[in-house]
Amino acid sequence: MTSVPLDTFRAELERLRGDAESALTAATDAAALEAARIEFLGAKSGRLKSVQKSLGGLAPADKPDGGRHFNDAKNAITACFEVAQTRIATAATGRATTAIDVTLPTEPIRLGHLHPITRTIRRVQEIMGRLGFESVDGPEVEDQWHNFEALAIPAEHPARDPLDNFYLAVAQGNDPLLLRSQTSTVQIRVMENREPPLRIVSLGRVYRPDTADATHYPMFHQVEGLLVEPGTTMAHLKSVLRMFASSFLGGDVKVRFRPSFFPFTEPSVEVDMEWGGRWVEMGGAGMVDPAVLEAVGYDPDAVSGFAFGLGVERIAARRYGVDDIRDFYRNDARFLRQF
Ligand code: DAH
Repeated sequence: MTSVPLDTFRAELERLRGDAESALTAATDAAALEAARIEFLGAKSGRLKSVQKSLGGLAPADKPDGGRHFNDAKNAITACFEVAQTRIATAATGRATTAIDVTLPTEPIRLGHLHPITRTIRRVQEIMGRLGFESVDGPEVEDQWHNFEALAIPAEHPARDPLDNFYLAVAQGNDPLLLRSQTSTVQIRVMENREPPLRIVSLGRVYRPDTADATHYPMFHQVEGLLVEPGTTMAHLKSVLRMFASSFLGGDVKVRFRPSFFPFTEPSVEVDMEWGGRWVEMGGAGMVDPAVLEAVGYDPDAVSGFAFGLGVERIAARRYGVDDIRDFYRNDARFLRQF
């Protein structure tokens, strides 16, 4: 019997080794790896086993060399198998960790809540509602009639100065519209459309080109109150404000009036509130000026009313102990989370 040439044996061995290595490195899961293991390293009919059998066909002189080559190939294929085995096992555990390890800590769920200004607005609406004041809204883009003229603020009045208002390029007739500078506009809008008696409160944004500091901001909120009923006096105004302040801030709030001037009230007062030993100016108030009642078509001899306008940021700051109103609008979650 002619023996198998050593070169043929070695070529066979190399082909087997190449096939085995590509199959093992290509395997991406345990099943593919196991199939490759059986094909190449299988103890009964694996391809390595059958090459091993052909060792016996080498010429006796070639057998030691053939054996060495065989062992090299076998070790290389076995090592390649082990690498593939580790690779697939790691990939499998990695996937399992992200998919099903329910014991890993998760990102805490953060619950949001209303902004302190929104909460203040809702609370004011609720308290005033109990006193019979209906909450109404008005537009933030206003015309000069509602922001000024009907409120007895004539064209030459300094409050209408372009430097003190956000006038818009959009005009109505000859008059530019503006971002309302006060919520007193809503008094006019309501009175134009309803007959007395009425009690309304309106809370919303107003705009003035002020430089931001601890007590000013170019956008802020006001609460406007209006009551029109026969026989209304300053005493009613003071009682309503005191009841409001006590409900909002807590029992022992004092309310103080100081004489002042507003074009749309007569007499006019500044409203201060004392709470926790400190007086703070909260806004303005007064009896609705007869000229305003006439401007909306009411009979000033038949009805009278009072009005007030307070700063929402100021009441909120007072209530929550905030000493810089800019903090309300910095959007810093560390600040907002406290409320
Ligand atoms: N509108 C005034 C302001 O913005 C505040 C104010 C004063 C409102 C007196 C009123 C009032 O209703 O009667 O400064």
